[in-house]
Amino acid sequence: MIEIIGLKKSFNSKKVLDGVDLAIERGKITVIIGRSGEGKSVLIKHIIGLLRPDSGKILLDSKEITALREREFNELRKHFGMLFQGSALFDSMTVAENVGFPLKEHTGLHDDEVMKVVAEKLHRVGLVGIEGMMPADLSGGMKKRVGLARAIVMDPEIVIFDEPTTGLDPIMADSVAELMLETQRALKTTYIVITHDIQLTYKIADMVAMLHQGKIIAKGTVEDIKKNPNPVLKQFLEGSAEGPIKVY
Ligand SMILES: Nc1ncnc2c1ncn2[C@@H]1O[C@H](COP(=O)(O)OP(=O)(O)O)[C@@H](O)[C@H]1O
Ligand SMILES: [Mg+2]
Repeated sequence: MIEIIGLKKSFNSKKVLDGVDLAIERGKITVIIGRSGEGKSVLIKHIIGLLRPDSGKILLDSKEITALREREFNELRKHFGMLFQGSALFDSMTVAENVGFPLKEHTGLHDDEVMKVVAEKLHRVGLVGIEGMMPADLSGGMKKRVGLARAIVMDPEIVIFDEPTTGLDPIMADSVAELMLETQRALKTTYIVITHDIQLTYKIADMVAMLHQGKIIAKGTVEDIKKNPNPVLKQFLEGSAEGPIKVY
């Protein structure tokens, strides 16, 4: 569905992406893992057109999206759902206003129709009757659920998750992982997840790719990457201070 080919991006003189090659399959969960600061967020910002590459390209259904104009990208973004790190809810809006926001922006639906879709999406993420609550009154796990409801409110073909479990306790993290699996399996949406959470990766990934020093250094199913002898990958999966990656 998505092909990333030779993608390079530097900031000032710092190389962040140094020739990323990766194919992302439709209807699957692809998890991109890597240490903090390796460029995972930078990579997905290229997929949604918030950043432009120095060289290389990204194809979506064989069409080069890195060549799109800003206006065309805005149109395309309606087919993407995004769950940002920290959920990125609008603090001054109710849950219903947050979830319904993309519908108000991009569709001509009337308020009562918006409310109907909002209730349906909240139900899908396991939340009922919280439409009038404010984000400040929600737990971290509930915020993630509301964020996911907003990400899927337009029935996107692709949902991108930036660190969906970071900052949650292990039990809440697991419940978010369960929810991601449930919603993906129910709707067969393409999920792209970036994370350094190994437990999450093992639980939900159909395909795993590791980003390290600007390149994808390993790729495969969970079984594949567990067997992969690459020492950098092994050190990361084991969460060990010992190995080729030096910790300062
Ligand atoms: N807009 C930007 N301008 C300059 N440097 C950036 C910008 N965005 C990201 N970076 C740098 O790129 C590197 C990778 O960042 P990021 O993709 O956020 O890492 P990750 O998501 O893997 O933790 C970091 O060193 C970061 O400081
Ligand atoms: Mg990041």
